[in-house]
Amino acid sequence: MNHLKSAMLLTFALSSAYCGIDGEQLTESKCTVCHMSSNPTVEQVKNMVAPPMWGVVRHLKRDLKDQKSFVNFVSDYILEPSKEKIRFNKEAMKRFGLMPSMKGTISEEEAKIIAEYLYKTY
Ligand code: HEC
Repeated sequence: MNHLKSAMLLTFALSSAYCGIDGEQLTESKCTVCHMSSNPTVEQVKNMVAPPMWGVVRHLKRDLKDQKSFVNFVSDYILEPSKEKIRFNKEAMKRFGLMPSMKGTISEEEAKIIAEYLYKTY
């Protein structure tokens, strides 16, 4: 009986820990501050600090054909953005400046979860 109880507790703990790393939540909290998740209004376009997320993702998906290369590129860019790596749009970089690295606030694993979420969502 005790075994069963602890097994149930363990399963519960594991599943809630897993659900804690949610791609949507991570993206909302780490990316949408700068990359809007919806279409910006004319007024919002003026105040944008980065291209909208769906635009970036759709463009990159056309460029990087499969999910694996998309996830590799995006999760790497999140942690180490650089001028040389830019695939989306050099004009965006001129207008907004280079994206700041999110090293220290996002782990490699989280970066991958976000990239997978973006691939599946847009
Ligand atoms: C502080 C603002 C800011 C935050 C936060 C931010 N970005 Fe960016 N991001 C930018 C800017 C500005 C650009 C355009 C210049 C560039 O490409 O670096 C950009 C560009 C990108 C690109 C295009 C790279 C290319 O090929 O040119 C990707 C992909 C991207 N961001 C993903 C993300 C993801 C995913 C997150 C959340 C984990 C995120 N960004 C958080 C500002 C931000």
